[in-house]
Amino acid sequence: MNYRILVIGACGQIGSELTYKLRSVNGMDNVIAADIKESNIELVNSGPFEVLDAKNFNQIKRCVKAYNIDTVYLMAAMLSAKGEQFPKKAWDLNMTSLFNVLDLAKEKLINKVFWPSSIGAFGPTTPKNNTPQHAIMEPNTVYGITKQVGERWCEYYNKNYGVDVRSVRYPGIISWKTLPGGGTTDYAIDIFHKAITDKKYECYIAEDTELPMMFMEDAINATINLMNAANDSITIRSSYNLAAISFTPKQIAESIKLQIPEFSITYNPDFRQQIAASWPKSIDDSKARIDWNWSHDFDLEDITKEMLMQLNNMYSLS
Ligand code: SER
Repeated sequence: MNYRILVIGACGQIGSELTYKLRSVNGMDNVIAADIKESNIELVNSGPFEVLDAKNFNQIKRCVKAYNIDTVYLMAAMLSAKGEQFPKKAWDLNMTSLFNVLDLAKEKLINKVFWPSSIGAFGPTTPKNNTPQHAIMEPNTVYGITKQVGERWCEYYNKNYGVDVRSVRYPGIISWKTLPGGGTTDYAIDIFHKAITDKKYECYIAEDTELPMMFMEDAINATINLMNAANDSITIRSSYNLAAISFTPKQIAESIKLQIPEFSITYNPDFRQQIAASWPKSIDDSKARIDWNWSHDFDLEDITKEMLMQLNNMYSLS
């Protein structure tokens, strides 16, 4: 029997690229993509796809049985900024979907689970620089609360029911293929689009607010490497700190100006500024580096070059 993977939330920013990568490694038919809507046509047309609501236990269970799924990547979630507009919906989606998947693993219908946490699980009382793996966590967004509580449940299911669940705390993820939606760190993607289309950008985050960030390729590699690591090398069952680089809006604008000298940026912080200001500036991810040999490849200069090249191609073709 084949080893099969289900990606829930496969139309999203990270889910789509994870699906493409998992298919290239495991074979097209062994990776089933699922989402609540067919909102990413390229992804939907790229292989097996199921319409599925992550909040519906029976729908996921049916899909798991029909395809003989071994491993689930649960990538469906409402992000930090949108979550503040719909707090109860964010709580419901983020928590119900997690319990659904953890319970399938508890019932031994699947063997392995990946669930992402985030720097959003930290809060204003967390030490901001080089934030340790084990730190004060008092998140003040609904998104952050779901991530922090979710981490506790992952650890609980591992300890009490032997569920093989693995997780990382993603920083802001920068990518060009699929747009993110409703996050606080989305500015670091919008800025590249506007640099190409308008040569200027109005930023909703203040110029000196530093946040941890990572290029998509690094995030996907981290995810797959963690999932492929030997079971006994995983010493953290809540969620691993994960880091690549940190920068401010001013620094990313400077890096764009090196490629597009006429680019200019202005600042008009909105409610997302407060969210950003409550998160760490930089992350100590030494546990991930030691336990499963994590290392990143892309620094700010590499990211800027790659983003501008890919988006220039995309816009010139459209
Ligand atoms: N990128 C996410 C957000 O901004 C954080 O995990 O909400």
